[in-house]
Amino acid sequence: MRVVLGVGGGIAAYKSAELVRALQQQGHAVQVVMTQAARQFIQPLTFAALTGRKVIEGLFSEASPEETLSSAVEHIAVAQEHDALAVAPATADLLAKFAHGLADDFLSTLYLAFTGHVVLAPAMNNAMWEHPATQENVAKLRARGCRIVEPEEGWLACGSIGPGRLANPVAIAQEIDLLGIQKKDLEGETVLITAGPTQEPLDPVRYVSNRSSGKMGYAIAEAAARRGAKVVLVSGPVNLAAPRNIETIQVRTAQEMRKAVMEHLKQATIIIKSAAVADYYASEVPKQKLKKTATRLSIELDPTPDILAEIGQSKGDRLLVGFAAETQNLIEEARRKMNSKKCDMLVANYVNQDGIGFESDRNEVEILSRSGEIAHAGPADKIEIAEKILDQIATLRLSLHAADARA
Ligand code: CTP
Repeated sequence: MRVVLGVGGGIAAYKSAELVRALQQQGHAVQVVMTQAARQFIQPLTFAALTGRKVIEGLFSEASPEETLSSAVEHIAVAQEHDALAVAPATADLLAKFAHGLADDFLSTLYLAFTGHVVLAPAMNNAMWEHPATQENVAKLRARGCRIVEPEEGWLACGSIGPGRLANPVAIAQEIDLLGIQKKDLEGETVLITAGPTQEPLDPVRYVSNRSSGKMGYAIAEAAARRGAKVVLVSGPVNLAAPRNIETIQVRTAQEMRKAVMEHLKQATIIIKSAAVADYYASEVPKQKLKKTATRLSIELDPTPDILAEIGQSKGDRLLVGFAAETQNLIEEARRKMNSKKCDMLVANYVNQDGIGFESDRNEVEILSRSGEIAHAGPADKIEIAEKILDQIATLRLSLHAADARA
């Protein structure tokens, strides 16, 4: 792989030289980019000597107008020419810049222009690492698909003990190396994914909805795209950025979700219905806001179309995956839904446990297949759970293809 290694300004910057060596030993070509602050800790010459390439240090060259012009677009060229961007040490400042899309130096600009894999190895004082601002930035970056190589616990340069020490360079190199063997087992598939909640209006200002954040569905969409599938994402209202390079259709109500799904159904070979669709809606929505006149309010609701059940009726050889978010009798409910909605697979999780499920970055699921098998995944990051779900889908797809070939 062609790896750009971004070196941030932290005491751990000297360990990046070891990371360069480890990456080279694995057969990767390395281009180093240093921030201004990194130069306070280690000389560019060290990296230039190790890589045999000029280290990139700034957005603009100070040499000549011609060089300035070519260096001004260098971040785009570097972004296009490399397969992975690794940043070690990723300082609190760099994480904040990446999370918020600031682009005021070469490395942050490169991050924005980069569409390949991103691996971040943070290193900083333990209080800075544990600060909610840093943790929120890390969660945001993780949700966007960046791999985070967590810092280790130990003695820190500032004298305190705790998490914050840069992970072992060999471990970081292994994490980067793994990207190169990214599975491409969904090549040729078109995956239609629904995610998030739906909102069913009651009047012009109110609606019925649920706590789904869409994080699980978005993680599956991004993982499926990484594995080579063409992905169409139909999303209810969520607070997540539309994934890059994925056709995303924003909808609000169950009716709109059904319409978008049906329009894209023909081209789909795999359908994953992770959305938490509202079960009821108000068929007659008043044009004006409801006024607080009654002492008790009853609202009549009608059932929404069950999109999954409808697809199940005429799915042909498409692989259909449903979801079930439950508060009790997980497996029985999941099995009942899988059978009644004619799914090939159903992913079930509890939504009444702290730290997993709705709104969380983590999840723990049971993956039921028609054959009767149940695979367990988690508790883990939703990105990891997404990969496990896709592993199961890819395996089932293969066995169905093999069965077709035998018939
Ligand atoms: N689903 C759907 N359309 C609906 C309701 C649900 O497509 N109107 C899909 C969901 O996307 C999910 C699966 O059906 O993949 C199960 O959703 P869930 O709400 O758990 O199922 P329900 O049949 O509505 O059962 P419950 O009574 O538990 O709400």
